[in-house]
Amino acid sequence: MTLLIDDIGELLTNDGPPLTGAAVIVDGDRIGWIGPAGQAPAADRRIGVDGAAVLPGFVDSHAHLVFAGDRAAEFAARMAGEPYTGGGIRTTVAATRAASDDELRAKARKLVAEARRQGTTTIEIKSGYGLSVDDEARSLRIARELTGETTFLGAHVVPAGVDPDAYVDLVRGPMLAACAPYAKWVDVFVERGAFDGEQAREILVAGAKLGLGLRVHANQLTEGPGVRLAVELGAASADHCTHLSDSDVDALAGSGTVATLLPGAEFSTRSPYPDARRLLDAGVTVALATDCNPGSSYTSSMAFCIALAVREMGMTPTEAVRAATAGGARALRRDDVGVLRAGARADLIVLDAPSHLHLAYRPGVPLIRAVLQDGPSNHP
Ligand code: NIG
Ligand code: FE
Repeated sequence: MTLLIDDIGELLTNDGPPLTGAAVIVDGDRIGWIGPAGQAPAADRRIGVDGAAVLPGFVDSHAHLVFAGDRAAEFAARMAGEPYTGGGIRTTVAATRAASDDELRAKARKLVAEARRQGTTTIEIKSGYGLSVDDEARSLRIARELTGETTFLGAHVVPAGVDPDAYVDLVRGPMLAACAPYAKWVDVFVERGAFDGEQAREILVAGAKLGLGLRVHANQLTEGPGVRLAVELGAASADHCTHLSDSDVDALAGSGTVATLLPGAEFSTRSPYPDARRLLDAGVTVALATDCNPGSSYTSSMAFCIALAVREMGMTPTEAVRAATAGGARALRRDDVGVLRAGARADLIVLDAPSHLHLAYRPGVPLIRAVLQDGPSNHP
C-alpha cells in the first residue's frame, strides 16, 4: 500500500535545506521516495496537504512516564520560591510502589498518546520510580509495551532508609539483572544527593557488560563529574547539561556523546536554562527532549521545548526543530527516525502552518494537524 503526500508547502527532511515543491511517497512503514512533485511515481492513495509544512516526527529521547500520582503542590511551592532539590522523587516512588500494574500502564499509555497527538513518534521511557528489584522490573515491563527505547534508571536516588553503598550493589547486581531483559539503556542520576561519579561508573560499566547502551543525567543542578564520565564511557547522551565547565564542553565537542537539553525542567523549576549556543558553537551535537515527569517537567510537548530553546537558550528556530528530531535520533543512536529519506521510517508530522519556523514563532498553539506513523512494530 503506497501513499503520495503532495501539495507540501515546505518539506524539512533534515537531509539538507528545506525543500519546496517536493512530494513524499510512503510505502508501508517506510518512506519510499522523495522528490519533485511533478516526478512522483504512481501511488495507491494521495493526500494533498494544502501548502502545509511536513517534517519528521519528534524524537523525545528523555522521558519518565511510568509513575503514579502528581506533584502539583510541589510545583506551586516552587513557583512561590521553594528550590528544586530532587527530593520529591521519593514522593513519586511511594505513590508508584502503591499503584497496581494496570494503573501504571494506563497512566503511561495516556502520556504516550498525549505526546503522539503533539507530534512525538519516537519516545524513550525510563524506570526510576520503583527503586526495588520488583518495582523497577515491572516499570520496565510496562515501558516495553509502549516503546523499544527503554532505560533502566534504578540509580535515580537512594530510597529512603537504605544504605547508599548497599543500594549501589543492589542496582548493579540483582536489580540490573532483573531489568536488563526489558531495557535497551542504563542511566544514572549523577548529582549531589543522588549518585557520585564512582558509584555511577560502577553501575554504567555493569550495564554495558550486559549489553545496555549508556545515558547519564549529568550536570543538572550543579557542575559535577557526570558529563566527563558520560564522554569517557562513550555514552550516547549526557542529559540536562545545565552547569558546564569549559572542559565539559570540550569533552562533549570531541565525542560521540550528544548533549540532550531539557528546558521543560528549567521552566518548571524556575532555574537558569542551559546555554545551547555555547554547545552548538563548540560543535557539540544537541538534542531537545521533554524530560516528562511529575516532578521537574510535567510536559509532553516537544513544541513547547522548541519554543523555550529558541527564546531562552540561544537556538535558532531551525536548530531547535533539528535538535527535536535529528538530534533526538542521534541521542538514541538511531538513523531510521528524525530524518525523511527513502528507507527511513514513515514517521512524519503535517503542520497547520507553512513552515517549521512557526513551531517557535507560535508558542502554545496546537500546530500539529496530522501525525503519520509507521506500523505497530514501532511504538508509540
Ligand atoms: O530528569 N533529575 C532527575 N530526575 C528527573 C526528575 C525527577 C523528579 O523530580 O521526579 C529529571 O529532572
Ligand atoms: Fe530526567
